[in-house]
Amino acid sequence: MTDIKELLFSRIRDVADYPEPGVMFKDITPLLADPAAFTALTDALAEIAGRTGATKVVGLEARGFILGAPVAVRAGLGFIPVRKAGKLPGATLAQAYDLEYGSAEIEVHAEDLSSDDRILIIDDVLATGGTAEASIQLIRRAGAQVAGLAVLMELGFLSGRARLEPALAGAPLEAL
Ligand code: PRP
Repeated sequence: MTDIKELLFSRIRDVADYPEPGVMFKDITPLLADPAAFTALTDALAEIAGRTGATKVVGLEARGFILGAPVAVRAGLGFIPVRKAGKLPGATLAQAYDLEYGSAEIEVHAEDLSSDDRILIIDDVLATGGTAEASIQLIRRAGAQVAGLAVLMELGFLSGRARLEPALAGAPLEAL
């Protein structure tokens, strides 16, 4: 493992049986509380934004906001929040997606995206890939291009990467 991966990995806390029995929750709050680790993460994600030619950063609610906003500032790009349904006041585009039980919906302000934009999507965790897949669909429906998807952690056993391959259509998926 590289030094930065070791640093980031060491600041992620496993919390057993949260939010329900049998689930091992990956808590990033120790990483956020450590300025060296949070800065290293921000720099690594900003490097991806530069390398992929992104023109804007999309952060996925809620932890994608915490990671994505400083990356946008560091990379000199605008930040766009993709929110859970009902939280944005303006005209929105919405995308529904399936959960294990039931479904969910995410939204974006339609005016924030244009056909000139190349979007780097940022989130903390890639699990089943449902949230990321819906965000890719949302961005494409708004006419913008997807420059890539960058996450801190990928839970490989849930096969989100394979699920996202068709939607990403060759755009990179980077898990730090
Ligand atoms: C978590 C995580 C990702 C998503 C990943 O967010 O932060 O956004 O789930 O899961 P998936 O790949 O299976 O879609 P959550 O929905 O818990 O929202 P929160 O950050 O608002 O708590």
